[in-house]
Amino acid sequence: MYWIIFFVVIVSLAISGYSMAPWVPTRKKDIERVLEILQLNPKEKFLEVGAWDARISSAVARKYPQNSIVGIEMAFPIYFMALTRKLLFGPKNMKLKLGNAFKEDFWKYEAIYVFGMPDKLQKKIIPKFLLEAKKWTKIYSYVFSIPQEYKDNTISYGSEHQAKIHVLEKK
Ligand SMILES: C[S@@+](CC[C@H](N)C(=O)[O-])C[C@H]1O[C@@H](n2cnc3c(N)ncnc32)[C@H](O)[C@@H]1O
Repeated sequence: MYWIIFFVVIVSLAISGYSMAPWVPTRKKDIERVLEILQLNPKEKFLEVGAWDARISSAVARKYPQNSIVGIEMAFPIYFMALTRKLLFGPKNMKLKLGNAFKEDFWKYEAIYVFGMPDKLQKKIIPKFLLEAKKWTKIYSYVFSIPQEYKDNTISYGSEHQAKIHVLEKK
């Protein structure tokens, strides 16, 4: 029995790691920076692609209690832990979904946050964002750059010693 659980956990983590990025969350000291950069207007919806322990989604949800915040996580064990914490401690305006975030409709959101490896970011996430997102929607990429061809619509935040946060606005 135990080896089946172990197998499911390992396979789930391996698939999600391969799908977009390994299991390294946004650094705690950068959460405040993300909150400063990310601005949500009333009724605007936020999506976190690959939520891990939902530290970003929770922080955004607490700052914007009237907004709808969604985090999608593919790795079941991580999702389960994040969901348990959310059920115990909230926030209520945050919804956690188990699944492949690449299948989510990006047009439903005004702000999208991602910490994904460059190849997945450039080949999958940014093209999907440009295809589906509404005009003026912003995608926030932690650490990894937005392709150069979109530099006119991108602002990068962070000093030499800080992790960069790149923001691409759909125009
Ligand atoms: C680098 S971590 C970033 C976690 C979180 N966004 C943060 O910044 O703290 C990437 C996360 O995305 C998850 N993931 C990878 N591919 C995914 C996919 N296609 N759909 C949903 N989650 C995915 C991984 O399991 C992992 O938790």
